[in-house]
Amino acid sequence: MSKKPTKATITFDNDANSIELPMLSGTAGNDVIDIRNLGKHSVFTYDPGFMSTAACQSNITFIDGEKGQLLYRGYPIEQLAEHCDFLEVSYLLMHGELPNATQKTEFTSVINSHTMLHDQLSNIFRGFRRDAHPMAVMIGVVGSMSAFYFDAMDVYNPQHRIISAHRLLAKIPTIAAWSYKYNLGQPFMHPKNKLNYAENFIHMMFATPCEEYTPNPILARAFEKILILHADHEQNASTSTVRLVGSSGANPFASIAAGIASLWGPAHGGANEATLDMLEEIGDVSRIDEFIKRAKDKSDSFRLMGFGHRVYRSMDPRAAIMQKTCYEVLDELGLHDDPMFKLALKLEQIALEDDYFVSKKLYPNVDFYSGIVMRAMGIPNSMFTAIFALARTAGWIAQWSEMNADPEHKIGRPRQLYTGETRREFVPIGKRK
Ligand code: CMC
Repeated sequence: MSKKPTKATITFDNDANSIELPMLSGTAGNDVIDIRNLGKHSVFTYDPGFMSTAACQSNITFIDGEKGQLLYRGYPIEQLAEHCDFLEVSYLLMHGELPNATQKTEFTSVINSHTMLHDQLSNIFRGFRRDAHPMAVMIGVVGSMSAFYFDAMDVYNPQHRIISAHRLLAKIPTIAAWSYKYNLGQPFMHPKNKLNYAENFIHMMFATPCEEYTPNPILARAFEKILILHADHEQNASTSTVRLVGSSGANPFASIAAGIASLWGPAHGGANEATLDMLEEIGDVSRIDEFIKRAKDKSDSFRLMGFGHRVYRSMDPRAAIMQKTCYEVLDELGLHDDPMFKLALKLEQIALEDDYFVSKKLYPNVDFYSGIVMRAMGIPNSMFTAIFALARTAGWIAQWSEMNADPEHKIGRPRQLYTGETRREFVPIGKRK
């Protein structure tokens, strides 16, 4: 095997001095060229979309897109989804190790004792229109937490960071469920701390004060898997947003609210909702070919939602787990013959065999299957991204805490390639064309 390079050299074609740059190695993944000092030579790099740029060091999550591998703190996602509950995984993301039995009991108890929202927060919900999208409500309510829980917002104080992390993780299911209840016009259901994290959320979503409600354990476990699979995913758009916002010293609630905003986009977390909207638009198996044709047509902006990924060039390992869970849930609910699910399964089969998708390595992603599972559970499309946000909160707070704990962290401030007018003189209004 050839020796790893330890430095890279940039040479210019105008005989300007060349610049030597060190190479950095992580514990896994590609080495990177350390360009931090390039600016001192008045040279900057251009990389819109961060196609080739590592924006930070992190020891939380690792993805090998070629192998289809996802590790949280070194543990394969398949093992975590099989053996852990969501709070164990959240603890792992936050603290770097799986909790032992005592730590798990303590952590669960701390989270359970923070699930309630400040009573005044219900007024924030009531300020929204009844038909407000749950993501719009979540952005507003999570942002407003900084006006309620400001006693522990010193981002440079490790204890404060932990208190805020606990508050966010504990309260986010209540906020997500209430954003749905508000749409429905039903009373807000308070958390029931004897239930586990997933059951509690399902209870707050579907129970009413009029009747006893017991969450179906198979569906609750499937839901728990959705949360685990979505908990973190390296430096994606929303996580990078949380880091960028937080890099200025912004408080955790403002930073996470910004992450929720970023997640809402259809190219990111909004894809699960967009997938189901697309399936509804397709409407019938007989129309699949028409939409596949549109997805391949360069002059049409339509894309097959729930397919493709920036990093995975083989099957997204989360999608493989979710696909299995999806079939289990459809079996449990006897939904295999439901026209929408038949349509989804047919679309999956056709796309997996189609040359365009195969050659571009566009596999169904996690959002394709999670949308189907959530729909089968009776969760409306508009809540899909809100649930993604609830799960990703665990990763966001781990990444936000990691950044703030790093003594070398700097405010994020990208450069630009300016393409506008160069300096020109002011023209009084009467002389303008
Ligand atoms: N349908 C049809 N063609 C596609 C699709 C798709 N879903 N995704 C990518 N392509 C084509 C694209 O047109 C391009 O073709 P060409 O090379 O001929 O120009 C090629 O595949 C590469 O696409 P890209 O847009 O350059 O790739 P990207 O890495 O910038 O985009 C993506 C990744 C996820 C934004 C994109 O695949 C997409 O828009 N997918 C649909 C939305 C979606 O499901 N998003 C959820 C991602 S998983 C959840 C998460 O982690 O947030």
